Amino acid sequence: MANKKILVVPGDGIGKEVTAVGKLVLDAIAQKYHHQFSYDTALIGHVAIEATGTPLPDESLTKMKQSDAVLFGAVGHPKYDNDPTAKVRPEQGLLKMRKELGLYANIRPIKLFDELLDASSIKPEILKGADILFFRELTGDIYFGEKGRKNNGNTAFDVAEYSRYEIERIARKAFEAARTRRKKLCSVDKANVIETSRLWREVVQQVALDYPDVTVEHQFVDATAMLLIKEPTRFDVVVTANLFGDILTDEASQIAGSMGMLASASIGDGTGVYEPIHGSAHDITGKGVANPLASILSVALMLDISFGLTTESNAVIAAVDAVLKAGYRTRDIANSSTQAANIVGTEQMGQLVLAYLK
Ligand code: NAD
Ligand code: IPM
Ligand code: MN
Repeated sequence: MANKKILVVPGDGIGKEVTAVGKLVLDAIAQKYHHQFSYDTALIGHVAIEATGTPLPDESLTKMKQSDAVLFGAVGHPKYDNDPTAKVRPEQGLLKMRKELGLYANIRPIKLFDELLDASSIKPEILKGADILFFRELTGDIYFGEKGRKNNGNTAFDVAEYSRYEIERIARKAFEAARTRRKKLCSVDKANVIETSRLWREVVQQVALDYPDVTVEHQFVDATAMLLIKEPTRFDVVVTANLFGDILTDEASQIAGSMGMLASASIGDGTGVYEPIHGSAHDITGKGVANPLASILSVALMLDISFGLTTESNAVIAAVDAVLKAGYRTRDIANSSTQAANIVGTEQMGQLVLAYLK
């Protein structure tokens, strides 16, 4: 029996709606497999700014550090998206959480459930068999370098920085994962132009010497963006820098059918954070239509990676698969041939997964 302290951090927008469902799935797993999961919650993002004036209060950070795992939703609010001059922003909370918890590896699996072959705008024959594991570096790059204005505010700059050590540790994680899969690693950079990318390529080439069983390919990010759509099945494990990884995985979500399908694990040396890759989606907030499967699949990653509960993790994935096989779809993964009666909302989708789990 596992005894775990889980911190639920819903954040903003649909973050609240989807983590509520994720938590129900954790409850069902605890009940079925006789584990003891205890929960607490913490504020982050816009809701934290409203309540405390800061996007990641110290109290939230302390709770995160004291938990066995964090189930995170999303942050963001249109108020800040449309005000480039705002000094305090929800996203700062997310970045601070990643930095303070040392979450340098963001693992984003792009796995297409067979039943969703026709949910994507990409042709089924191109998609069939696509299964990519992204390793996005998460605590460096242009996100965390010095930023500011000069020239009386008329010039802006963001410094991109990477150290050898930062590149090496994410590269090693990706190589280790490739070893357990199809033994192919694609390292994505822009070494033809950018200095941090040149260091990136140099370090990955060096690390590769320790993994002679893994075939390594180096690609420029612009080509990767194209190849992901042209031939997604050519990829196995992909490792890349923070900004490139952010952009490429939103693109790759279309291989899996929707942003609402993509889960992620953010890991480092301490508490792991499990989060959908999508944002607070204010266009659909409060409508009860958000796809909760990304949050549910993030729970599956938590059970596996942080708790080592692989049977339980596989049971969650199998339940999702069963619900999709039965034909149920949230709006984002439905298509013109989906029967109207099979189009369900956030809570209903959650209940269906729970029913298959039990
Ligand atoms: P978004 O991911 O919130 O939404 C993009 C599109 O995908 C929207 O049309 C949305 O409705 C759809 N979508 C996203 N998740 C879905 C789900 N579960 N089910 C169905 N449809 C879904 O990205 P955005 O619109 O560019 O950003 C909105 C806000 O979220 C911004 O403030 C941004 O900073 C923030 N954001 C936060 C995170 C995070 O917290 N990890 C990630 C991305 C964006
Ligand atoms: C993500 C988001 C964040 C990122 C933003 C909201 C800071 O897009 O989690 O993918 O860029 O990392
Ligand atoms: Mn993103």
